[in-house]
Amino acid sequence: MMRLGPKAPPSGKGTGSLTDAPKDLLKETRHLEELFTIDTPKLKEITHHFVNELTKGLSVEGGSIPMNPTWVMSRPTGHETGTFLALDMGGTNLRVCQVTLTEQKSEFDIIQSKYRLPEELKTGVAEELWGYIADCLQQFIETHHGDASKMGKHPLGFTFSYPATQNYIDEGILQRWTKGFDIAGVEGRNVVPMFEAALKQRGVPIKLTALINDTTGTLVASAYTDPKMMIGCIFGTGCNAAYMEDCGSIPKLAHLNLPPDTPMGINCEWGAFDNEGKVLPRTPYDAAIDKDSPRPGQQAFEKMIAGLYLGEIFRLIMVDLHDNSDAHLFAGQDISKLRKPYSLDSSFLSAIEEDTLEDLSETLDLFQTKLNISPSRAELGLIRRAAELIGTRAARLSACGVAAISIKKGYQSCHVGADGSVFNKYPHFKARGAQALRQILDWPDKADPKEEDPIEILAAEDGSGVGAALIAALTLRRVKDGNMHGILHPENFK
Ligand code: GLC
Repeated sequence: MMRLGPKAPPSGKGTGSLTDAPKDLLKETRHLEELFTIDTPKLKEITHHFVNELTKGLSVEGGSIPMNPTWVMSRPTGHETGTFLALDMGGTNLRVCQVTLTEQKSEFDIIQSKYRLPEELKTGVAEELWGYIADCLQQFIETHHGDASKMGKHPLGFTFSYPATQNYIDEGILQRWTKGFDIAGVEGRNVVPMFEAALKQRGVPIKLTALINDTTGTLVASAYTDPKMMIGCIFGTGCNAAYMEDCGSIPKLAHLNLPPDTPMGINCEWGAFDNEGKVLPRTPYDAAIDKDSPRPGQQAFEKMIAGLYLGEIFRLIMVDLHDNSDAHLFAGQDISKLRKPYSLDSSFLSAIEEDTLEDLSETLDLFQTKLNISPSRAELGLIRRAAELIGTRAARLSACGVAAISIKKGYQSCHVGADGSVFNKYPHFKARGAQALRQILDWPDKADPKEEDPIEILAAEDGSGVGAALIAALTLRRVKDGNMHGILHPENFK
């Protein structure tokens, strides 16, 4: 069997029986392998283009990757202190935290509450979204501090993980919604006053000191405990990275005359890589996802990698092989449940890849209970292979982004902090990504398997809680030291 990419994990037994599969199923499996396999030369070509696109995003003309300056202008030392509120508006949940950076180096205490972000809010009305967030924050403050209206104003770091132009750290002009959000009247506007209006209406005593991206938070939170951390990544509902650039390499900030060696956190928004379709080997399934998304033509890279889309890619393949192929997948069965868009999330694929049983009977159970479909033994083999191909492609493409930043910055050896449901929960994602990185960067084989890779992608510290608090602390500190660059409301920093 053609097997590019990482060696099949030991649990990959189920695919072995594909050789006994009917000819048409085998043909479809081979076809999927051709569509989804990205070999090393192609990974290198993608990475090469990626490096150029990172540079282009920093230029005055710009490119498709936004490369947003974040006004995070230093790395933490581990000695930051203070108590901060942090609010994380992620793709799936809303989290409110109170983070205390303690006197003990690199230590923190955290209390937090998680709220589900109701699905209808993601495509609803802006006021309802801000109202809901403000309500959660109010509830949190009242639970932990009593009557909110009687308190002084709390400094808040707001993790708003969407592409936003920041002329200031306490501003975020939404460039476009990503991750399936589609709320009218927000794109092109600064979200901070909208959010503050909802807080004011409810009398919630908050002063927003920093609007941050989850990737920047991840970078800073991880650097707080590990000085080797140079890149922060999220592989979750969406996919993105941040790193520290020197102002001298950011032509689009040249008009501000910042000293060239001043560090500046850059939120890459690399989900937008190759929106123009130059290098990514997109399949018809990727094209279908894009076409039916709220923002066609946007987030090309993210739509091949992120958790929001992995299950949907799989679902589209299954429906296509039922409707249009000689293999007649699930012939004679009612696939109406499978026809529902976005009904399978990436945990469905994880479960398939985690099935360790020789006969893939856990996968059979999953299909029966969730979809009311009973795949044959040979169909189960194809299902397993499809999941592996989608998961492997996502991990290998992710590695191109990490390699590109490392090449751009000349990092020969560093740590990359990664967070998100795909990184933390998707089987083999880390190993597949690490192998791809090795192939792209031509590292020799390890003498000892326990040895660290030169560039190692590690589980990150909590970026949107601790990271947001740290960024609020770093900003307060630099304002106190007289660095007022990128501060819109100095009065909030007193
Ligand atoms: C999307 C967002 C980006 C975020 C990423 C991970 O790509 O546009 O801001 O960092 O998802 O949550």
